[in-house]
Amino acid sequence: MDIVDRVLLTEEEIQQRVQELGSQISKDYADKTVALLCILKGGLMFLTDLSKHITAPVTFDFIAISSYGHSTQSSGVVRITKDLEESIEGKHVLIVEDIIDTGLTLSYLIRNLQSRNPASIKICTLLDKPANRTVDIPVDYVGFDVPNEFLVGYGLDFQELYRNIPYVFILKPELYTHNSDSA
Ligand code: IMP
Ligand code: MG
Repeated sequence: MDIVDRVLLTEEEIQQRVQELGSQISKDYADKTVALLCILKGGLMFLTDLSKHITAPVTFDFIAISSYGHSTQSSGVVRITKDLEESIEGKHVLIVEDIIDTGLTLSYLIRNLQSRNPASIKICTLLDKPANRTVDIPVDYVGFDVPNEFLVGYGLDFQELYRNIPYVFILKPELYTHNSDSA
């Protein structure tokens, strides 16, 4: 596609790794029900594929958060724009996220969720950018460590676009500069 500068992870690589993560999670939660908590919108692709490979019983719930401000840099000041529908009290929560960058978003979210008294909280992220981490958060399952570049595809967006593309890629640089006033 003419928007792709470089493909970082192919569809096959992602699907293979997602299957491995699903197997690991199935073992770790063998005797439990997993309350999958998807962070919208980026975690959606990952949630649907991952959950197919989990053999333990699972439930789905969704939370949407947004950072204050418009910068591409995370401010750490986040607000819940759509809350969970179910209580997580006494449940084994597994957060499903697309990417962890600074860690500020998840650090806020975990503090918030902990106050709701779940039995446990673990984190599963498809992508991890360890270079940018500013807060230490325990990440239990990581699909891939990725370089410090802006990535799109497989849930990740640039201006809400490209989430549906089944691989992870780096956009052509000209799209960042010429696209700001397009509809
Ligand atoms: P953090 O608070 O810095 O960890 O921000 C994590 C959030 O920023 C992710 O859930 C994504 O929504 C977004 N994000 C971070 N890096 C990227 C990227 O490379 N492409 C698209 N979104 C990103
Ligand atoms: Mg996100």
